[in-house]
Amino acid sequence: MTDKTSGTHGAVVQDSAPGQDGLLVELRGAGKSYGNVRALHGVDLKVHAGQVTCVLGDNGAGKSTLIKIISGLHQHTEGEFLVDGTAVRFSTPREALDRGIATVYQDLATVPLMPVWRNFFLGSEMTRGPWPVRRLDIPRMKATADQELRNMGIVLDDLEQPIGTLSGGQRQCVAIARAVYFGARVLILDEPTAALGVKQSGVVLKYIAAARDRGLGVIFITHNPHHAYMVGDHFSVLRLGTLELSADRSEVSLEELTNHMAGGAELAALKHELAQVRGVDTEELPEEDDLTAPVAPSPEGTT
Ligand SMILES: Nc1ncnc2c1ncn2[C@@H]1O[C@H](COP(=O)(O)OP(=O)(O)OP(=O)(O)O)[C@@H](O)[C@H]1O
Ligand SMILES: [Mg+2]
Repeated sequence: MTDKTSGTHGAVVQDSAPGQDGLLVELRGAGKSYGNVRALHGVDLKVHAGQVTCVLGDNGAGKSTLIKIISGLHQHTEGEFLVDGTAVRFSTPREALDRGIATVYQDLATVPLMPVWRNFFLGSEMTRGPWPVRRLDIPRMKATADQELRNMGIVLDDLEQPIGTLSGGQRQCVAIARAVYFGARVLILDEPTAALGVKQSGVVLKYIAAARDRGLGVIFITHNPHHAYMVGDHFSVLRLGTLELSADRSEVSLEELTNHMAGGAELAALKHELAQVRGVDTEELPEEDDLTAPVAPSPEGTT
């Protein structure tokens, strides 16, 4: 009964073939201005099937602007945006979804009082019987939601419980499983671990890895270099709207990534300031030399 092939039911995903190397989405020198505010400028980004691309950056760095372009909420005002090797310009999130680009926002679009299975199918309910006696196919929705959650390794005791009673991490996981089921090829996660504790973050990271293992290209937005490094294949660090670092996992260590995120020079200055304050133990902080050490984006000196 249950259709195991994840993907093409419910939402209509247009036939698209990924480009060479499983390249699904690419930005070339992309940018976005809001009036005369330049939020993003000259950004190159590649998203491959079966890989996690992490986008890091401080507040206001342009992370949300970047994903809004890819998810069809905003349009780029400079550069190019390609899906499966073809230049595109989406005017609605629906168009992005039709190309298999799904976004899980932090404030998840769920109805807290509705059961888990109902939320899983929200807006794309299964029905049975001919019109005008068509009804919701509740048993099939329950069985499918249960199976799909299990396929992702998510086991919930009771799918009848209101989704509002799940933890933030569990809700993120249901949203990820839902996107996979409805045929996402590219999954965008906007700070999915930001509001979570250590244990729940671990659970969400596990499902990010599960989505990647099912062949999705994942864009993982985060402030946290440790979370990024646990699952990331590629790291793009934004700073004031431009790319400060774009490196594969083999090209950058966790320390270097953390240093980039923190803004090494700023941290060194902060440490100096803190050293003047009684009761703050700066011994625990990294050495100034470590903080200011320049990081080569690529050992090969490639572009
Ligand atoms: N709709 C908008 N109109 C005008 N300026 C905007 C708009 N959206 C974002 N900006 C500006 O663009 C810049 C980048 O914002 P963005 O929301 O993309 O950053 P962010 O990296 O997601 O930050 P945060 O970590 O706080 O979510 C900021 O300077 C912001 O003020
Ligand atoms: Mg943001």
